[in-house]
Amino acid sequence: MKVLLTGGAGYVGSACLRWLLKRGHDPIAYDNMLEGNAASVPESSRRLVVGDIADTDRLADALKQHQAEAVMHFAALASVPDSIGDPEAYYRVNVAGTKSVLDAMRTAGVSKILFSSTAATYGFHAEMPLRETSAQTPETPYGTTKLAAEWLIKDYARAYGMSYTVLRYFNASGADLDGEHGEDRRHEAHLIPLILHAALGRRPKVMIFGTDYETRDGTCVRDYVHTADLAQAHELAVLALRPGVGKAYNLGSGTGATVLEVLRACEKAVGRPIPHEFAPRRPGDPGVLVASPDAIVQDLGWSPRYSDVEAIVSSAWRWHEKHPRGYTEQPA
Ligand SMILES: NC(=O)c1ccc[n+]([C@@H]2O[C@H](COP(=O)([O-])OP(=O)(O)OC[C@H]3O[C@@H](n4cnc5c(N)ncnc54)[C@H](O)[C@@H]3O)[C@@H](O)[C@H]2O)c1
Repeated sequence: MKVLLTGGAGYVGSACLRWLLKRGHDPIAYDNMLEGNAASVPESSRRLVVGDIADTDRLADALKQHQAEAVMHFAALASVPDSIGDPEAYYRVNVAGTKSVLDAMRTAGVSKILFSSTAATYGFHAEMPLRETSAQTPETPYGTTKLAAEWLIKDYARAYGMSYTVLRYFNASGADLDGEHGEDRRHEAHLIPLILHAALGRRPKVMIFGTDYETRDGTCVRDYVHTADLAQAHELAVLALRPGVGKAYNLGSGTGATVLEVLRACEKAVGRPIPHEFAPRRPGDPGVLVASPDAIVQDLGWSPRYSDVEAIVSSAWRWHEKHPRGYTEQPA
């Protein structure tokens, strides 16, 4: 299938692009390189178009030139704390940017879209696991902008004959199983890379926010899902898209790990203690977020195979150990 991936040079987007390529599809990335890495896109000279999703005409041209049959829309700003301080940027990129993607698709005659949504659209809930029918009451601009984008897609689909699948990821994590590609952003906000950066001395320590949640050890529980499992879900979902149909699925493993459990798993993989410091809770962080992935398992036969925390962390460490300064800066 010919697919255009907005944000396809980013962490999850490039993992999906590489997966699609290996499976015989014909993907291209469209990315403004704010957080993307050209080295994460194989054959980047022909598979990476540098452009902003706000540039509707350029995106429509890229879709036409590639004769894209579907869009996977990953491009977004995706840091909960940053979104609280700068909601304007989040509404501009995540909401207006999504509108631009949909308008470019209409111009280019592309009617199928997968959208990378998030567990953050659910907000605070007492009952776990979260199902697709759980109330969406986001607590932060990151969550509200991703939910607004879900609504935009739904409304466009109904009015303009598009089909869509919203994929609500929980915590995307891990590195390619061959150790060649991993997680590397210029502004890192995700737990596992932050811990591994502390292990490598790239930062003095990792901060652990909140020790008084009602969880096994007082730290937040999250549901970690390996990018290889996310990529498989994207392939299944894009192949299953039918005209006029819109669906939403959770993508998580169905089990949760605490921040301290993730830290201990990293220490085990690295083989030494990792410097860390405890701090008060951050606004907008729910205590527990765990998915029920039953719907996508039943409907599409998704079978997550790599989303055990120890396996995730070992794959991430294999990549970080080999690329201690990430994609761009290799050690002297
Ligand atoms: N990583 C996670 O745990 C997680 C969890 C839930 C949802 N998501 C969603 O998955 C998607 C991908 O996340 P990620 O972790 O790969 O993030 P990422 O930052 O690694 O990738 C996002 C990519 O989008 C690009 N981009 C940003 N703004 C753009 C713009 N205006 N025009 C073109 N490209 C632009 C960036 O350069 C980057 O390459 C996002 O939509 C995010 O909200 C991620």
